[in-house]
Amino acid sequence: MTRSGIGAWAFLLVSACVCLGTHNTSVRAQASVKVMPLFDSDTKREPETIEDTPNALITRVADRVRDRHAREGMFHSYDHYLPLYWEKRTVAIEIVDRVAKGGDSVTYNITALAPLNKPNLRAFFEGKGTVAQYATNLTSTQVDPLHYTATLKHNPMERRPIKIGDRIEIEFSPFLQPPVQGRTNYYGTAILYVVGQPGIVPWEGRGPRKDSFPLPEIAWSGGRTTLHEQYSNEPKERFKQIATNLAPINAQPFMLGRRLHHTDFGSGAHSERGNPIYTEQVGKLGPRFNERSCVGCHVNNGRALPPAVGAPLLKYLVRVGSDAKGTPHPKLGAALQGQSTKGTPEAGVTISSWTTIDGAYGDGTPFTLRKPNYQFTGVVPEFYSIRIAPPLVGMGLLEALHEADIAAAPGKGRTRTVSDPETGQVRMGRFGWKAGQVRLSHQIASALNNDMGITTTIYPNPDRGSEQPDLGPSAKLAPADLDNLYRYVATLGVPPRRNITEEQVAKGESLFASVKCSQCHLPIMKTSPHHPLAELRNQTIRAYTDMRLHDMGAGLADNMAEGNAAGAEWRTTPLWSISLTPGVSGGEAYLHDGRARNLSEAILWHGGEAQASKEAFRTMSAADRAALIRFLQSL
Ligand code: HEC
Ligand code: HEC
Repeated sequence: MTRSGIGAWAFLLVSACVCLGTHNTSVRAQASVKVMPLFDSDTKREPETIEDTPNALITRVADRVRDRHAREGMFHSYDHYLPLYWEKRTVAIEIVDRVAKGGDSVTYNITALAPLNKPNLRAFFEGKGTVAQYATNLTSTQVDPLHYTATLKHNPMERRPIKIGDRIEIEFSPFLQPPVQGRTNYYGTAILYVVGQPGIVPWEGRGPRKDSFPLPEIAWSGGRTTLHEQYSNEPKERFKQIATNLAPINAQPFMLGRRLHHTDFGSGAHSERGNPIYTEQVGKLGPRFNERSCVGCHVNNGRALPPAVGAPLLKYLVRVGSDAKGTPHPKLGAALQGQSTKGTPEAGVTISSWTTIDGAYGDGTPFTLRKPNYQFTGVVPEFYSIRIAPPLVGMGLLEALHEADIAAAPGKGRTRTVSDPETGQVRMGRFGWKAGQVRLSHQIASALNNDMGITTTIYPNPDRGSEQPDLGPSAKLAPADLDNLYRYVATLGVPPRRNITEEQVAKGESLFASVKCSQCHLPIMKTSPHHPLAELRNQTIRAYTDMRLHDMGAGLADNMAEGNAAGAEWRTTPLWSISLTPGVSGGEAYLHDGRARNLSEAILWHGGEAQASKEAFRTMSAADRAALIRFLQSL
């Protein structure tokens, strides 16, 4: 992993505070804290994927194998992953656009990981007869066993030479040469390139054949990582896709990281059928843990849902302390692990009941909110903060936001400051419900440690209280594996916005601004030019977060602080892709503990700094409330 250069950096002054949090109140002493940016002009950057040369505009992108085609809604076989997807099943595609520079051809150069069997390149989507039909269909020329090429000059749709502005959708089929373990014959991503314009564009299908057209940029939630519109009816797969602009060098790290993400660190089993045991990882789980794999908590890479009353909270982070400041608990450590591979688990926690709170909108329409009551068994900590697993798309883009832009954004709130676990420097916190982690790799390392009992060079010691029996050593995850996990999570593509042309959505969007939701849920930001990963640099993103902490009032407060974040302070949750929650997670549960059963309830819990916005929502007409919710459903 590339670290930012120490030496030529500039400190950033942000308004931070020293919080003496007690229960729901906090005393703040405003002070200027020096924050070390994560990335700057000295950071080593991976190569650009777009190159502008005198004779051609060159775009490089990674692709993976697919079972079937993008528009085949009846098969549900496009977005899911095939068995052994990490073996030989990615390719690099280089698009050499000479038309952009006055030439007459566009060449596709493909680099494979294993020899291919007459790989097929289909170009110019036509959709006649079948939704998988292209006007140009040719076998690419083999340059050597790992390199293939195909050149296009003719636009068969217009019956003329290719010219600037032509939309060329391709699908490349990296058929493997037999004998092959697993599937040999398959297809690729429907990739849209517009001649003369650098980069791959997220597309939507228009007309009865769903011909691909670039999505308007306001739908590009994750900049150029944004996925194309989905037509294969696989709602559970939406948060598991490679970024549309995935760099060729990150194709294999993504797949290897994905394998780890889906591996049960006890048995080594993969969560999807047809994949072998990952023998290297067998037996790493524990001794204390909550869940057996990353996807075990982050359901389909989305959020988890609260379990039934009385069932253990295993898809949560249960932070515990011996005081309101969050000093680790002598018998439990900093977090409770509800399971163990030996002996009895240290403690357990369940939702014992839900307290319901009745309220009414300004027009008299009643609503009911619910709040969890927890019951601990074994050790009962007096101070705790309980949070559910959040969704994982767009994380790399959030890591790529520049500290100065976050500090300078309008609105209230403050940036979280955290000590970097690797360097000890003061940095801006970004990840987790209270922005307690600096880097994505730190967040992942902390999940390995707190949730699965696996150590890393970042967090070498398992979570354990000072008075707790030692259950023996924890296994370690190798730095290369952690890096693959990092690259995987960092380059997951963000789904595009939906229904953006609806009148109600436009109305909801203006309400979102007029009642100042947008002061915290910032509609648009640009990532810095300094991030190591090319995919994440200079991206205009619509994450709907300011990445800052806000006092959200007593209703949402825990009785324990986390570092300098008080019990009532939470990071503005990104709202991108929130509308896909039911499809991805199989239900709805919003806010840090999953208490809100729908988007309206999530808003109605807002208090503190968001009290005025909440009240504005509560007192709106039913039509305006519906429009605001419809807008959220377009994200
Ligand atoms: C026991 C359930 C559980 C497991 C297992 C788990 N997570 Fe998490 N994850 C959470 C919770 C809860 C949070 C929020 C943590 C907080 O608020 O500090 C979280 C936060 C995250 C975040 C930050 C999200 C954001 O919006 O800031 C990332 C990234 C992440 N997890 C990745 C992983 C990866 C990768 C793994 C596997 C190595 C993993 N998690 C395993 C429950 C889990
Ligand atoms: C003062 C800043 C602020 C304002 C203003 C604000 N929010 Fe939030 N919002 C937050 C924070 C912080 C959270 C996380 C709270 C938690 O989980 O306890 C959040 C959470 C949410 C969630 C749940 C997200 C999830 O994934 O669980 C939704 C939906 C939401 N806000 C919508 C809105 C809407 C709509 C408005 C305007 C009516 C609004 N917010 C105004 C800060 C704000």
